[in-house]
Amino acid sequence: GTVVLAYSGGLDTSCILVWLKEQGYDIIAYMANIGQNEDFGEARKKALALGAKKVFIEDMRKEFVEDFIWPAVQANAIYEDRYLLGTSLARPCIARHQVEIAKKEGAEYVSHGATGKGNDQIRFELTCYALHPKIKIIAPWRMPEFYNRFRGRTDLMEYAKKHGIPVPTTPKNPWSMDENLMHISYEGGILENPKNHAPSGLYVKTKDPTESPNTPDVLEIKFKKGVPVQITNLKDGSNHHSSLELFLYLNEIAGKHGVGRIDIVENRYIGMKSRGIYETPAGTILYHAHLDIEAFTMDREVRKIKHSLALRFSEQVYNGFWYSPECEFVRSCIENSQKMVEGKVRVSVLKGQVYVLGREAPNSLYNEELVSMDVQGDYEPSDASGFIKINSLRLKEYHRLQSKVKE
Ligand code: ARG
Ligand code: SIN
Repeated sequence: GTVVLAYSGGLDTSCILVWLKEQGYDIIAYMANIGQNEDFGEARKKALALGAKKVFIEDMRKEFVEDFIWPAVQANAIYEDRYLLGTSLARPCIARHQVEIAKKEGAEYVSHGATGKGNDQIRFELTCYALHPKIKIIAPWRMPEFYNRFRGRTDLMEYAKKHGIPVPTTPKNPWSMDENLMHISYEGGILENPKNHAPSGLYVKTKDPTESPNTPDVLEIKFKKGVPVQITNLKDGSNHHSSLELFLYLNEIAGKHGVGRIDIVENRYIGMKSRGIYETPAGTILYHAHLDIEAFTMDREVRKIKHSLALRFSEQVYNGFWYSPECEFVRSCIENSQKMVEGKVRVSVLKGQVYVLGREAPNSLYNEELVSMDVQGDYEPSDASGFIKINSLRLKEYHRLQSKVKE
């Protein structure tokens, strides 16, 4: 049969490619360009040299931003209060296209190099099963005949040498990375001891804030329907429009000022805690800016409901349920909540921080006259006395009882 393998160009998936061929499969190598730093030309050559029948390299950066990152921005999606879901969002985007290729090429199987202990296997496979129910999945890292043969990196290196797989010449970082437009993650190796600090040379997307510029960049971020549509840098007057271009520009500015680093211990869906370090430059600026414009334009009670849905959304995305009925439902509610989330937020980006400086909106619920300490507006201050008295009823009753029980 034919397998569409999600190929990264690295040692693991190169060995998987050759190993699958050894098992008698025809291999289609598939690489998604989701903004990782990679020489795709070289990777194509390598996959063909290793015996792939075909290689598909797809530029999915725009889809990734518009179909996955934008809904996360609208939601203010955040997992366990800290993680902006960079890897979690990319997986359904990659896998969706992988099954498209399998369908077009008439391949019965898909395969990936995710380990048997992680979240990624779940995200890949739930997406594949949801969008192509007949698909068969080969997950080598869960197959004893594979993981008993490749017990560590030395086994992979040895196998590579024997089978003409180019072995990496630069020494491997003692941790694993996963990169895309939204973020880069670092896990494993020396980071597995949660007490160990990240070595200073680890970070690749952001500058160390102690070495970042002493003067801020000031950005004006324009939102429509909860999504950024224009960025103006007030320092140099530059404008950035299309979704991909403005996202790349935000990454550049945030990276320059060291914005978006976190070091956390999180709960994997499979049931274990893991330590991860993340850089999410553009995503961090947008998180703060969107929170601000949303609070400015959205009704208080709608916002509470929306917030609770966003919590569910974040968990669904993390756990791999993008293509579930519950996640589709929640996404449509969140999208609906964003109709009036429109306006401009000004932020200053400096030394690892995003400071909101001000905001304006054509349809904000903010009523300057109503809230003013200097103007009366359409409001009778004496009405507040009754409002407070009625609210105090419950409190008086509660404390009356409390003092009685104590006696
Ligand atoms: N812990 C993060 C998540 O589950 C990052 C996973 C990184 N994946 C990887 N293959 N290195 O979303
Ligand atoms: C992996 O297991 O491939 C990386 C970690 C994860 O998926 O959570």
